[in-house]
Amino acid sequence: MNVYLDNAATTPVDPQVVEEVSKYQRDFFGNASSIHYFGKKSKVILEDSREYIAEFIGCKPKELFFTSGGTESINTVIKGLYFENAKEKNHIVTTTIEHPAVIESVSFLKKYFGVEVDLVKPNSNGEINIEEIKGRIKKNTFLVSLMHSNNETGIINDIEELSKFTKEKNIPFLSDTVQSIGKADLKFSKLGVDFITSSAHKIYGPKGIGFLVANPKFKFTRYSDGGGQERELRAGTENIPLIAGFRKAIEIIKLNFDKELEHYNLMSSYLIEQLHQNFGEGAIINFRSKKNLPNIVNVTFDPDKYGFPPDMFLILLDMQGIAVSGGSACSSGSLKPSKILTEIGKSEKEALSSIRISIGRFNDKNNIDVLIKGLRNVLRLN
Ligand SMILES: Cc1ncc(COP(=O)(O)O)c(C=O)c1O
Repeated sequence: MNVYLDNAATTPVDPQVVEEVSKYQRDFFGNASSIHYFGKKSKVILEDSREYIAEFIGCKPKELFFTSGGTESINTVIKGLYFENAKEKNHIVTTTIEHPAVIESVSFLKKYFGVEVDLVKPNSNGEINIEEIKGRIKKNTFLVSLMHSNNETGIINDIEELSKFTKEKNIPFLSDTVQSIGKADLKFSKLGVDFITSSAHKIYGPKGIGFLVANPKFKFTRYSDGGGQERELRAGTENIPLIAGFRKAIEIIKLNFDKELEHYNLMSSYLIEQLHQNFGEGAIINFRSKKNLPNIVNVTFDPDKYGFPPDMFLILLDMQGIAVSGGSACSSGSLKPSKILTEIGKSEKEALSSIRISIGRFNDKNNIDVLIKGLRNVLRLN
């Protein structure tokens, strides 16, 4: 039996969403910019979905832009704000533990435009000190970027605390909310930030669709040039079937929000209990903080206690039918240790002996039992 416990990487598409997308692929092919019947039919779905999602996330419909997902939304804000303000401002503050969409965007600006990049590091528990971010802000800062929750650690940052400060200083603030939507009760208006992001494939929706919510107070240059869609800020024909699927995914979350959180909490508690019972001090739960996402558990197995080859850990688990992540990027066939784990002081061996287990809507206790059994086999306890 294959067990999927890598829901922070992506989620299975909810069957109701699959139905919805198919229906709209079939019946709503019109270009939402066309003035005829078919176009108008699509336009209605586009604007209805925008309104519905905006209401859910606590912003005005005109502040919400559909994009292809988290990566595009982040690139749009970071590069778009820089290009809009390049004459006066060329300094950005962010952290070393942001998603690569942030890290690579700021690296690009540094390499090609000489932008000054200030990267705040986490403490030994993976937490970011908000005061340190505040201290790095300068007169020429064009953006502060701090993720709402981290995709590897699950730690939730105190975004409201930082946004009070950025508001006072009138500095745009981007918070990457891709992992938090559906798992934390967040509203754009309450967060006090200027930009948030979302990706449907993290919430049981289709891949290739997401949103950017943007405070109209801060102008940005659009990411790619073309037609005048999305109020001239995101060119390209809108993907109505995916937008309808995204809306459906949000509708399901809205209807079951409390129950779903309870499910994540219950499953995580069961998982942690089982880890303690089966491995005792041989399993170290990482990154417990004041506030954590309810569905991410990051754990290191003591490589000196168990005689398993760390560089083969994920592959051995896969052979047991278990899909988890090491928080590691698999590039050119090699498994790299997670950057955040090495940054907080774990050795390469310890980092490779760590896994991120991310629980989803469709997991049950039985899945956790299969994981534990597989872990026991790999760690040679059976
Ligand atoms: C925190 C975070 N930000 C951004 C992204 C990128 O989103 P997308 O896959 O939609 O480009 C991800 C996805 O892994 C993520 O976890």
